Amino acid sequence: MKSKVQPQATNITWHNAGISPTQRHDLNGHKSCVIWFTGLSGSGKSTLANRLDAALHALKVRSYVLDGDNLRHGLNRDLGFSPEDRRENIRRVGEAAKLLADAGLIVITAFISPYRSDRNDVRSLFQPGEFFETWIDCSLEACRRRDPKGLYKKADAGEIADFTGVSAPYEAPLNPEITIRSDQLSEDEAVGEVVAWLQERKIITQTD
Ligand code: ADX
Repeated sequence: MKSKVQPQATNITWHNAGISPTQRHDLNGHKSCVIWFTGLSGSGKSTLANRLDAALHALKVRSYVLDGDNLRHGLNRDLGFSPEDRRENIRRVGEAAKLLADAGLIVITAFISPYRSDRNDVRSLFQPGEFFETWIDCSLEACRRRDPKGLYKKADAGEIADFTGVSAPYEAPLNPEITIRSDQLSEDEAVGEVVAWLQERKIITQTD
């Protein structure tokens, strides 16, 4: 599907794909979608995204992770953490996720994506049933206790500006399709909930 925003360039033509989504789904044996993780730094997004990816792979489901820290080393290396840069980060990731979902994959994204309007803009790229906002819900206190990269400590010391939860906002989802209480569940339980969710909605039919 084309984006609703008009491109800068003129004299460009949209080419329809020769292979339909259904043909790709039939080949893969499952549908495609985006599981969009959102949550504070340290909430467990990257860990759970990679655990989910491994669980799907074991079920012979084609999946792929797009991760904030990783994409900021390449595609998004020109972006910082101002609201405008985060907006552009999430816009690019949304477009990349759309391409991978069009290619037939189950795409798992792990970005703080703190602004509701940015997440909603990504949602608008997809049909109903293709984009699942997944809140990795972990209290700020638990994220601070974990502080896996020592970033809360640095932010408290004034060494990192605009740090989410400290000096920049996090707008929690209002109506996420999935909520994972990562400070109350084990990693296995959290991954199991998402896999079961995909099975219940017949996005995947593989069970073992
Ligand atoms: S987002 O807000 O634009 O979605 P993204 O998920 O790509 O953020 O990157 C967040 C990661 O960048 C964090 O997990 C953390 O490791 C690192 N980081 C560095 N500076 C900041 C900051 N100011 N705020 C949040 N995360 C930061």
